[in-house]
Amino acid sequence: MTTPYDGLADRFAATFGRAPVGVWAAPGRVNLIGEHIDYNDGLVLPFALSQRTYAAAAPRDDGVVAARMLEADGSLSDAVARLEPGRLTEWPAYVAGVLWALREYGHDVRGMDVLLDGQVPVGAGLSSSAALECAVAVAAAELSGLRLDDAALAKVAQRAENDFVGVPCGLMDQMASMACEAGFALLYDVRSEQAEQVPFAPQESGLALLVIDTKVKHSVGDGAYADRRSTCEEAAKTLGVPSLRDVSPAELEDVLRKLPADTVPRVRHVVTEIARVAAAADALRAGEWRQLGELMSASHVSLRDDYEVSAEELDVAVDTALGAGALGARMTGAGFGGSAIALVPADSADDLEAAVTDAFASRGFGPPAIFAAEPGPGATRLS
Ligand code: GLA
Repeated sequence: MTTPYDGLADRFAATFGRAPVGVWAAPGRVNLIGEHIDYNDGLVLPFALSQRTYAAAAPRDDGVVAARMLEADGSLSDAVARLEPGRLTEWPAYVAGVLWALREYGHDVRGMDVLLDGQVPVGAGLSSSAALECAVAVAAAELSGLRLDDAALAKVAQRAENDFVGVPCGLMDQMASMACEAGFALLYDVRSEQAEQVPFAPQESGLALLVIDTKVKHSVGDGAYADRRSTCEEAAKTLGVPSLRDVSPAELEDVLRKLPADTVPRVRHVVTEIARVAAAADALRAGEWRQLGELMSASHVSLRDDYEVSAEELDVAVDTALGAGALGARMTGAGFGGSAIALVPADSADDLEAAVTDAFASRGFGPPAIFAAEPGPGATRLS
């Protein structure tokens, strides 16, 4: 059987003049529900995509990290001990950031040669950056003889993105990439750090989970994400609570009266979305797919109208999917572009794809990329 990483070891040998000691991989993710919630200490429910970033690597004795990426410009070559935020951009910053973050956490990190192959679509809201960070993190940790669990490596990867790359993301994507399992969604409580694997096999119930990549490039590096995050932090401060996780749905109406008008819808989204995640996990455990679908659609409305992070293309994808028989549909990830997801009867997946493609064409949008996603494994060593 050929694998997507066949040939990567050969390419490594051609690039670095020796064989790699191993190949590691880490996936992108789809978040089923629980959006803009991780940085509010709440609950999220992502699963891992089968699309992954692969890292062939071997240690070096001179303390240097040398990295290349297939089909991408740029390279990294620097002493690990000299890496510091601010000098690098693009993919080399993510690679360097992970090694830097491991050292910031007090670990001894060896130099390494690494050849990367990123198979997660970039800018599609499917966490290609977390896949890259986590692939490097598992490879670097093993080559350096470090025994770090999934949560520790996820935090290293998040630290790299926050403090080295400069993107103020939460922990969801890195935790999903590290800890998800094939056949399951990961119910992750960011506050308690409890993780529960919840069976997620829509195909066994005659359903499919479609990813609709609008091809509108999204970037969490721009100001809107940071703006939403600081609005939530300010609101928690005004309310005198550590985070919006501490506001229950029952007290929401009272609490909203204490907040400035423009903050009200943001807080309403966060509090109602956390409740929807808990309900969605219950629905999954009970095999209540219709219920899950309704929660997904309600999540989209909340993100569109209250949190204001959707985009016209995402709304068209969601509305068209629902009109074509989806049980539920929503944007996934940070928003402002990227991907939507739709839970559909498997036998109407083709019709839905055609309907969304037509709807995009008739509005003059570029064609979307649509594929069925099944939950794959988290970060791992492959060979
Ligand atoms: C991006 C961030 C995550 C999360 C989502 C929104 O993917 O990296 O931490 O905040 O947006 O849910």
